[in-house]
Amino acid sequence: MSAARSRSTSGVRVVSAEFEAGAARAESLPPPGCEEVAFVGRSNVGKSSLMNALVQRRKLVRTSRTPGCTRQLNLFAVKLADGRALRLVDLPGYGYAKLSKAERQGWAAPLEAYIRTRGSLGVVVLLVDARRGFEEDDAQMAAFLSAPRPSGAAPRLVVVATKMDKLTLSAHKPALREIARQAKAPALGFSAVTGKGREELWASILSGSRG
Ligand code: GTP
Ligand code: MG
Repeated sequence: MSAARSRSTSGVRVVSAEFEAGAARAESLPPPGCEEVAFVGRSNVGKSSLMNALVQRRKLVRTSRTPGCTRQLNLFAVKLADGRALRLVDLPGYGYAKLSKAERQGWAAPLEAYIRTRGSLGVVVLLVDARRGFEEDDAQMAAFLSAPRPSGAAPRLVVVATKMDKLTLSAHKPALREIARQAKAPALGFSAVTGKGREELWASILSGSRG
């Protein structure tokens, strides 16, 4: 009995995770290979931290207190114990008001080009700060993600509320419910500090994966 219970929570094991390539423009990335899972959201929402937590490597992806840390498209090659291979893609954050309009547009263009044209992009994880909720920028991104692409079907959208450790336990459910309502999609809770939500997020990323 107890053995069966422990197996059910053993979850996804990452055997390797390596930086593969970084590029300022979508066209400069290596050619599409295995399925890609991209992470998008406002600057500072916790994209890079969440990726480190997913692969259980503290410093694979650079994180920072200062918004605007990730300025290019960064590809990470990940192998799972069951033999599956994936690429995780860290994308520049949006909605950072202190940047000039030109700077913001300079980063938005590669991000949008990547999402619109990358045929190997299968899943987009949209991160929302659990304390701030779903904001106008996020709604625009969600609409952009669901728009038809020249390269094929729209990627599957997974919505994640980050920094759940900053909320009291009693605030978890209402926060997730509200984000899901606004995103019109189920929302998972996640904390890069405690690792809570990691298994659910992997399960959601891998469900229906082509890898
Ligand atoms: P940009 O690259 O600027 O777009 O930011 P990002 O979305 O990659 O955020 P990053 O992972 O660099 O994290 C931003 C800040 O939030 C850092 O100070 C992190 O330590 C903190 N942070 C990220 N995730 C969590 C979390 O789950 N809980 C808490 N308490 N802090 C977090
Ligand atoms: Mg980042």
